[in-house]
Formats: sequence, C-alpha cells, structure tokens
Amino acid sequence: MARVIAICNQKGGVGKTTTAVNLSAYLAALGRRVLLIDFDPQANATSALTYERNFPKNIYHGILNHSHYQELVRPSAILNYHFIPSSPDLSGAIIELVNLPEREYYLRKFINELRHHYDYILIDLPPSLSLLTVNGLVAADEVLIPVQAEYYSLEGLSQLLGIIDLINNNLGQRLKVAGAVLTMYDKREKLSREVAKNLRKYFPYKVFETEIPRCVALAEAPSFGKPIILYKPDSTGAMAYEKLAKEIIEQESKII
Ligand SMILES: Nc1ncnc2c1ncn2[C@@H]1O[C@H](COP(=O)(O)OP(=O)(O)OP(=O)(O)O)[C@@H](O)[C@H]1O
Ligand SMILES: [Mg+2]
Repeated sequence: MARVIAICNQKGGVGKTTTAVNLSAYLAALGRRVLLIDFDPQANATSALTYERNFPKNIYHGILNHSHYQELVRPSAILNYHFIPSSPDLSGAIIELVNLPEREYYLRKFINELRHHYDYILIDLPPSLSLLTVNGLVAADEVLIPVQAEYYSLEGLSQLLGIIDLINNNLGQRLKVAGAVLTMYDKREKLSREVAKNLRKYFPYKVFETEIPRCVALAEAPSFGKPIILYKPDSTGAMAYEKLAKEIIEQESKII
C-alpha cells in the first residue's frame, strides 16, 4: 500500500515542484513504484515531465467528473514512474468544490481507488492554503515541506503546521510531518547557513540531513521535459535528490 506524501508549502517558488518531480524519479530509480499527482493548476510538474500539452483528461476530471484513474495515469520516461497531469481547469475546482458535501475529501477518495498499485504517491501542491491544498493534505499520510534557504522562509511554517493540526483535529485525519527539506541551499552563503541552523533549532519535526543545493541543472531540466536523473545525473542537484530519496526510504525501517 502506497505511502502518500503531499509536497506542501504555501510560499511560492520554494522548490515544491522540483522536489516532487525529482524525488519521485529517484524513488522509482531505487526500484519503487511511484505515482506523482500534479495537483497545481499551474501544471509545472506536468510540463517538467513531458513536452505533451493539453491532455484531454487530467486530475480535475479525476476528482470532479469521476473519470477512472486508468484514463488519467501516464507513464513517464522512467520505468515505474507514472504521473497524472494537471491543467488550468483545476483552478475551477476550487469554486466547484465549495458547495459540495465532504468537499475536503475528493482527492482522498480518488487516491483510495489506486493506492494499492504503488509504493509511493507524491502530490505536488500549489502555493496556497486553498481548498485544493486542503484536499491534498487530507489525501496524504504525510507531508514533506520544502524550505528555501532564504530570509523569510521560516515565517509561514507555523501557519502551515497549524493547518495540519486543524486537519487532524477537525477532519479526522492522522497526517504526519515526514520532515522539512532545505532547498536552493548555498553553503558558501552565510544566510543559507543561518536559515539551516534556525530551521534545525526551531522546527518541531524532522529536518532531512540532505540539503538540496542551488544547482542550475535543476532549473534547466524542466525545459527539456525531463527530471534531473535523465538530464544531468552527475550534477550536485541530482545527487542530492538521490540522497533525499534514500532518506525517505530509510524512514520506513524506523516506522513502528
Ligand atoms: N535547487 C535548485 N537550484 C536552482 N534552481 C532551483 C532549485 N529548486 C528550484 N529551482 C528553480 O526555482 C524556481 C521555483 O522552483 P519550483 O517551481 O520547484 O518551486 P515551487 O515551490 O513548486 O513553486 P510554486 O509555488 O510556484 O509551485 C523554478 O524556476 C525552479 O527551476
Ligand atoms: Mg510548484
């Protein structure tokens, strides 16, 4: 049964999509069956995995039009790494869901139909705390929080942890924090080192040992429609995501 991990931070541009796309790739390369659900209307994860655009059906149809998952799941260029595309249609879902009963549970119900096919299901969430994000968190067992090594990054984290508590207390979930991962880290910069130090000191949950370095190849890879493992597997960014994937897998031996 899959571990369902939402990649979440309401701050924009912190490396959620880069983490979702490349962590998924290394989990698959390490022999796991992986599904990445692009749950952001910006559809950045979709375009990072393929040149194809305008999928006739995407995750919007999965949650609101009862499309069967088999119509939505696509193979990526990597064995055992599948994805479900998103599209700007998904932004309409925020409005459509508002008046529906059990509006927080639509993605969860969709994922329950297919979770037995995978070892990991990663959900790439948008930069907001909207009903889409709540659907993503309610659907997940765990949340992984990318934190950019930058001055304002730690602000907003307590708000996110508050939302997780609200979900657990009011929506009957048992969402856990898998951990925070530092992104765009530059160990030569004093500011990066300070942010890392403060995150490790004040964040009440695990902070992954792996720090994702600022790496131009990570920023370039999406324009080739490829994860870093197929674009520049020797880059520092690639090696960091491989290490992060190993840390995620190792967590299983510690779960009792
Ligand atoms: N480690 C890195 N090194 C260099 N560039 C990076 C790195 N991680 C992400 N980027 C670049 O930073 C930008 C933001 O990253 P990304 O899209 O992953 O963030 P995001 O949190 O998903 O953004 P949004 O909130 O808009 O969904 C992108 O242009 C991406 O290519
Ligand atoms: Mg994104």
